[in-house]
Amino acid sequence: MKALVTYYSQTGNTEKVAHAIYEAIHMEKELKPIKDVENIKGYDIVFCGFPVHAHSVPGKALSLFKLLPVSQKIAFFSTHGSLRGGQLPKQAFEHAIGLASKAKVLGHFGCQGKVDNKLIDTLMKQLEHKAWAEEALSAEGHPDQHDLADAKKFAEEMLAKLSK
Ligand SMILES: Cc1cc2nc3c(=O)[nH]c(=O)nc-3n(C[C@H](O)[C@H](O)[C@H](O)COP(=O)(O)O)c2cc1C
Repeated sequence: MKALVTYYSQTGNTEKVAHAIYEAIHMEKELKPIKDVENIKGYDIVFCGFPVHAHSVPGKALSLFKLLPVSQKIAFFSTHGSLRGGQLPKQAFEHAIGLASKAKVLGHFGCQGKVDNKLIDTLMKQLEHKAWAEEALSAEGHPDQHDLADAKKFAEEMLAKLSK
């Protein structure tokens, strides 16, 4: 059995979650940024992580979707400024699942990730984005130890699905 953990991370939050997931995997495994993935062959599961950008998957993560073999088992993880469980991060996962339509998506995990201060300052000044920017302030300090512990639990759940 072999697993790939791959991610795009602009400011390091998604990378932290990727490392937590990687640590929770007890089988042959690889960890690398999406930009270093040349092909996806021979993996029983691929964990694919990205930060939510504009309520969707950032362009720099898209190369991975083209490489996914038909029926590849995949699990998504993401970090986002919005609160966990909200409608907006859910929308990003729905986009990711749509992009990976030929793969078999086993599940997804999301947690908050500290938002770049410059972005918050800019959005605070725009009336239509002010409410989101205020919510995103609560992402300060994330991903924290609880988020990383939950990410590990998620990884274990996804691995348990492989044997079913
Ligand atoms: C350009 C940009 C757009 C973003 N758009 C969203 C968004 O639509 N929704 C959200 O919840 N967070 C958004 N964020 C916040 C990031 O998803 C969050 O800070 C994430 O943890 C960053 O992960 P990284 O450190 O792995 O890059 C955005 C951040 C940037 C820089």
